[in-house]
Amino acid sequence: MRTHYCGQVNESLLDREIRLAGWVHRRRDHGGVIFVDLRDREGLVQIVFDPERAGLFVSAERLRNEFVVSVKGKVRHRPKGTENPNLPSGKVEVLALEMEILNRAETPPFMLDEDDVNEERRLQYRYIDLRRPVMQQRLRLRHRVISALRRYLDQQGFIDVETPILTKPTPEGARDYLVPSRTHPGKFFALPQSPQLFKQLLMMSGFDRYYQIARCFRDEDLRADRQPEFTQLDIETSFLNENQIMDITEGMIRQTFKEVLGVELTNPFPRLAYDKAMRLYGSDKPDLRIPLELVDVADLVKDCEFKVFAGPANAKDGRVAALRLPNGGELARSEIDEYTTFVTRYGAKGLAYIKVNDVARGREGLQSPIIKFLSDDALQGILKRCGGANNDVIFFGADKARIVNDALGALRLKLGQDRGLMKGEWAPLWVVEFPMFEWDEKDKRWIFLHHPFTSPKVTEVAEMEKDPGGIRSRAYDMVLNGTELGGGSIRIHNQEMQSSVFRMLGISDEQARKKFGFLLDALKSGCPPHGGIALGMDRLVMHMAGAPNIREVIAFPKTQTAWDPLTDAPADVSDAELKELHIRLHLPPAEKQ
Ligand code: AMO
Ligand code: AMP
Repeated sequence: MRTHYCGQVNESLLDREIRLAGWVHRRRDHGGVIFVDLRDREGLVQIVFDPERAGLFVSAERLRNEFVVSVKGKVRHRPKGTENPNLPSGKVEVLALEMEILNRAETPPFMLDEDDVNEERRLQYRYIDLRRPVMQQRLRLRHRVISALRRYLDQQGFIDVETPILTKPTPEGARDYLVPSRTHPGKFFALPQSPQLFKQLLMMSGFDRYYQIARCFRDEDLRADRQPEFTQLDIETSFLNENQIMDITEGMIRQTFKEVLGVELTNPFPRLAYDKAMRLYGSDKPDLRIPLELVDVADLVKDCEFKVFAGPANAKDGRVAALRLPNGGELARSEIDEYTTFVTRYGAKGLAYIKVNDVARGREGLQSPIIKFLSDDALQGILKRCGGANNDVIFFGADKARIVNDALGALRLKLGQDRGLMKGEWAPLWVVEFPMFEWDEKDKRWIFLHHPFTSPKVTEVAEMEKDPGGIRSRAYDMVLNGTELGGGSIRIHNQEMQSSVFRMLGISDEQARKKFGFLLDALKSGCPPHGGIALGMDRLVMHMAGAPNIREVIAFPKTQTAWDPLTDAPADVSDAELKELHIRLHLPPAEKQ
């Protein structure tokens, strides 16, 4: 039906007769001549219908946007002055000799080159939305990324093994999607939050190096970089330590960036301990493109009159930190008020600040509602430690450490964006030395930071149980431009340690047996030391495509409320189907039909 793609027609085909097939992107009538931009996956080319060919011209008049046609025509130069330098085919056009309408199209719900189409509408008509060149490019980039990753792993001796979708819950920290079993009344499968336990079992089976492009399902609150179903590149290896696994993984990402984008990422990626990341950036996934850092000042203000500072400065779980914004003196009062409102979203009770007008004039050269509470020594100490210079503004957070980290960490990102401070395009890093457990004050129990199969840095059970809060894990996260791209760890390969970690997390021996008996048994059957990682493919491609959220790089994503406007899923099921599954619905009154 065709000899060439539209987007590939160029001067090399001059005077040739070619056949094209595609969609009518746009039709323009120009004083007796009809121009049609014909589109296919490779791009656009201009077709000209000349009134001298009367029959053909009449057919061309019937063309509407998104009709599917095949055209035979002759390639010729565009007349001088009508070339389009924005199109690869822009120097030429195709004079139509024959045309067949292969299919008609109703008026599309939106124009393909229309900006700001409502996202729900785009998702409802995704098959049309995906015709847009930008979406075609994003999905093709995704394909190139996945092929490059596969190629690298194949070269390194990894083998691709599929794992079940109907399975038992794997605790990755989210709610499960459950699937009722018809053949086992009252029982449910869970969709995998990740292939975690199966990949560990594959190590116990001796496969040594595994990978899978794995679909994962998590019923959690959605955000720009979260979907209820998403794709991981899931990896597991035996007999390697964390440094070796990080080296292989970053080598893979570096090669993929080079192959797909022609970008050389830093070698090696910097490695940053969790504590240091929290101290400097208030985040365990810092965006290192922003040259702003948090600075601790609790020791300088612990005796001051300002209770807002002195309280947290003396509290065990408190933090008082400063964030210097060079040239922030330009900020208007209203802008500072906006930043103050911004940090309250993260639980902060305010955003104290000092404007540095003239360092040489000491206290007189500073401007702030709080300097009256601070001694000269404290003020000098703060300026010195932050490196405060004329025309800077220094912001402060004082509260529980968690709140200060969240608030100033978010403010750091916002200032970086608002003030155009980003340095460089790509900032990958590893975050390492995570705490093994975190104390949950609300529920009064230890919770895990990664997942319960992650090995602590200690080998003795007694050593871990003595100081759970102080123990570090053998986990590592890969971070890119402020996004957690992937996480992994060396796993526990010893049954006593695994049982002890379950107990620490408040999972009784009986519950552990019920949920993970198969793993505990397998750990006693000759289990090699092993570890791995999973990288979020949607997030990786989002960054590489420069897309604003992961829905833009997923062919058929769901909305923020986990709904698919295209198929209208999730959907009602019939009473008969429910009966077969032994399920009766108890809907809250408002939702009853
Ligand atoms: P983790 O839970 O950190 O680790 O997930 C790994 C990576 O998967 C991506 N990701 C998501 N992407 C989109 N939407 C979501 N809802 C979502 N949740 C996670 C992130 C994240 O870094 N089994 C372990 C890995 C291991 O230990 O090997 C795991 O799943 O990019
Ligand atoms: P106040 O004494 O409450 O009027 O606060 C004086 C200044 O301190 C204001 O600029 C507040 O925004 C700021 N502030 C109040 N609470 C905090 C806090 N927990 N951390 C940082 N700044 C605060």
